[in-house]
Amino acid sequence: MSTKPPNSRFITFEGIEGSGKTTQIQMLSNHFEERGIDHLLTREPGGTPIGDQIRKLVLNPGNAAMTPTCELLLYAAARAQHIEQVISPALLAGRLVLCDRFKDATMAYQGFGRGIRLDVVDALHGLETLSIQPDLTFLFDIEAGVALLRARTRDHTKSRDETRFEQEALEFHERVRSGYLEMARQEPGRFVVVDARGTVEEVHHRVVEAMDRFLSTRGAPE
Ligand code: TMP
Repeated sequence: MSTKPPNSRFITFEGIEGSGKTTQIQMLSNHFEERGIDHLLTREPGGTPIGDQIRKLVLNPGNAAMTPTCELLLYAAARAQHIEQVISPALLAGRLVLCDRFKDATMAYQGFGRGIRLDVVDALHGLETLSIQPDLTFLFDIEAGVALLRARTRDHTKSRDETRFEQEALEFHERVRSGYLEMARQEPGRFVVVDARGTVEEVHHRVVEAMDRFLSTRGAPE
């Protein structure tokens, strides 16, 4: 079942490679932990044993022959498993869920990036078991050239066998970035666009401010 209760707190982090979102989701999770705020931290693709196996497949740079349709369906498959096994049960139990990437990533990468029709990507997510929506989405926005340089020189957040997307041309990442910004314009109530430039502490401060605003209307978990 992929339902969520009213007033749920399902929060997703999005952005292009090197935007710093994974560092930021970890910092927010630490911030919650220090304050005793119960939450679940998870990611896509992944978050379940089956999802982790799909992750290896889709991110392996050796799989250069993978077609866009195969890629789309693998991300959706990992998501279906993640929603039913992890996300929905946590939300129904009243937990706050922090998820590193979700459906917007499929719209941005497979839709805007690869050129698969957006209405098709959207229709796939109309399946009952895939139709859950985040309540709040942080989009870490930064110029694609700057972000890629960061991503390609980092040595700790990603292993060498997860670099299939980093090897895409700059134009691909520019399409993904403008796709994200377009979605944020269409859903201003859900998206918070965070300027991802500056120090990690400065960016973290922007996230905490927006998070506090959201929790003051939605209520923090006990
Ligand atoms: P990560 O670098 O945030 O762990 O994400 C893994 C890669 O997978 C990243 O390059 C974006 C890509 N991706 C998609 O193309 N579509 C999706 O639906 C998701 C969740 C990720």
